[in-house]
Parts: sequence; C-alpha cells; structure tokens
Amino acid sequence: MSEKKRIGILTSGGDCAGLNPIIRAVVNRATRYYGWEVLGIQGATNGLMQRPPKVMPLHLNAMDPLRTQGGTILGTTNKGNPFAFPMPDGSLKDRSPEIIDGYYQLGLDTLIGIGGDGSLAILRKLAQQGGMKLIGIPKTIDNDVGETQLSIGFSTAVDIATDALDRLHFTAASHDRVMILEVMGRDAGHIALQAGIAGGAHIILIPEIPYSLGNICRKIQERQDAGFRFSIVIVSEAVCTEGGETVQKMEQFWECRLGGIGQYLANAISKSTGAETRVTVLGHIQRGGIPSPTDRLLASAFGVAAVDLIADGKEDMVVTWQNNQIVPVPIADAIKTYRQVNPEDTLVHTARGLGICLGD
Ligand code: F6P
Repeated sequence: MSEKKRIGILTSGGDCAGLNPIIRAVVNRATRYYGWEVLGIQGATNGLMQRPPKVMPLHLNAMDPLRTQGGTILGTTNKGNPFAFPMPDGSLKDRSPEIIDGYYQLGLDTLIGIGGDGSLAILRKLAQQGGMKLIGIPKTIDNDVGETQLSIGFSTAVDIATDALDRLHFTAASHDRVMILEVMGRDAGHIALQAGIAGGAHIILIPEIPYSLGNICRKIQERQDAGFRFSIVIVSEAVCTEGGETVQKMEQFWECRLGGIGQYLANAISKSTGAETRVTVLGHIQRGGIPSPTDRLLASAFGVAAVDLIADGKEDMVVTWQNNQIVPVPIADAIKTYRQVNPEDTLVHTARGLGICLGD
C-alpha cells in the first residue's frame, strides 16, 4: 500500500465503446489495491474550467455495471480547444489557466486522460504548462494513435462494421445490387480494411491506397460475368473522389465533417456498369453499443497499467499495446506519428490474397 493519493480521470474527444470499462479498471486498481481516491472529471477539460470543478466521485461498488456499458459516464467533447476556446460572444479565449487551476483546486496527484492523438496532445500541453502530472490511455475507433497496435474502441467498431457487411450480403444477393458501406476512421483505413476482410467485402477502399473507378467497375463486371450478380463495397470516409477531392458534409458549429464518398461511388458505379447501387452510412453506430470482449480486456489492462505507472512515480507516459503486452511510452512519441494502414501490411496482402479488389 502506497501513500494515499487522489487521482482524476477524464475522457476526451469522440466517445467509443470501452471508455466505461477503463474507468472501472482504474477505480478497481486505485481503490482496491492502493487505497486511493478517484475523481471523475465531467465533460473532459470543460469540467476543470467550471467553478467548482465539475466532478463525480467514483466508488468501487458502482463500477461493475460499467463493464458492458457503451459511451462514457463522465461525458466528453471533441470541440473547443482550451487554448482557443469559443466564447458565447464569438471570441476565442485561452482557458488553459482555468483548467490548470481546476486541477490544483481538486488536489489531484495525477490526471489520467483517455483520448486520441488530438486530445492527448492538448492534455500534454496543459500538463507541461501547469506542471500537472499526466498519464494517457489511447482510445479511438480510428486506431490511428502512434506506437499502439490497438486503441480502445477500435475492436468494437470493427465488430459492428463486420456485422453490417454480413447483413448487407443477404439483401444485396436478394436484389442483385451493389451495396456500399461507408465507415468512419478519419484518414486511417483500419476499420474498412479489417471489417472488409472479416465481412467478406469484394472491394475495400481506404485512403492509403489510391483507386481508379475503372478497377472497381472491372471487379464488379468480373463478378457479374462469373454469375455473381451482387457485390459488396466498403469505403473509408476519407477516401477521395477519383480526382483527389475530399468529400465532406457540413455540420453544426461551422465545422466540416467527412461523409459522402459512398454516394459518390454509388453514382459513378451505376453510371459505368448499369448496376443498381445502394449506400449505407454506418456513422455513429460504430461508436455505440456494448464493448466487445477485446475492448473490455484492453480497457482492463490499460486501466490497471495506468494506475501502476502512477504508483511507480511515472508521468507524461501513455500505455500502449504492442505484441500482446502493455508497453508504456512517452506521450510525445505516441502523438508524433499518425498510424495509418501501411500498404505493405500483412492484412493488405491478405486482402489481395483473398481476391479482394483494393481499387489499385
Ligand atoms: O475520431 C473518431 C470519429 O468517429 C471519426 O472516425 C469521425 O470522422 C469523427 O470522429 C466524427 O466526429 P463527430 O462525432 O464530431 O461527428
């Protein structure tokens, strides 16, 4: 048993399945094993800006239901950079001093920040500016955080996209259609590649591998010539038009969001092949739902390891998953690289080996 500490935990950036199981693991390890107190900071760094800071105590006896609960009980945000925070009058304000002050008002020994590359970079900047101690845990369905082979939420997103492809097969075959599934992932094609292989897609399009419409249409035609009158395409949201333009849909708060490449492809494919096409945009369904067993395991391992790092007096580190082991690395290393699909990866080779068209 070490000296009694009070630690904070927050979730930042887009939610995903597996965040609550991390909270459960952190509270279990910190209170059961070390006898520490854990405060949940609500609404990411926004909770530390409020006065009094917006927190919820996290008690051991309330943790077990979190094992299967999607989302985050702490709330989160993927808007409002605290260094240029949008104010009601339309101006931007640096609110970092308030966040740092909030950390000290709560008497925290260390903050555990659960986030993707953007959130971890912001939290690290705050920690450095304010002398706060920070331990990071990587999460994002995009699986694009450097240094870790897996981030929380990715496995569940792949399961959901695979399930969607399985379902699309039946309706595609019944109607002799080309069904296109558009999935998330930002500039990384991990979800499309892995779900595409597992879910039997005939064509997988990812931002890392340039495609031509001619190759896609040829594959569909080949299948038709061989007597298969339907085809399944999975495409990552950041895949560009054949001319290289990003497809975006405008959303609230004047921010651009990716979306629409599925419909672009549907129009082009039907024009060129005459096939009937339909598009399913999976959207935020990929972030919801019950965490997969893999995400629960990873969340448990990350949560326990993060608390152990604090007990060892470490800071400015993030827990990562490499070759079936937890490996702590400096946060600076994890945010320095953006992990996309390497076109030489085993899974790219696997897809080609199965006869899947990657558009090139
Ligand atoms: O980074 C996670 C992610 O789900 C991306 O895959 C997607 O582009 C984005 O967030 C969607 O963000 P929002 O929830 O703001 O629509």
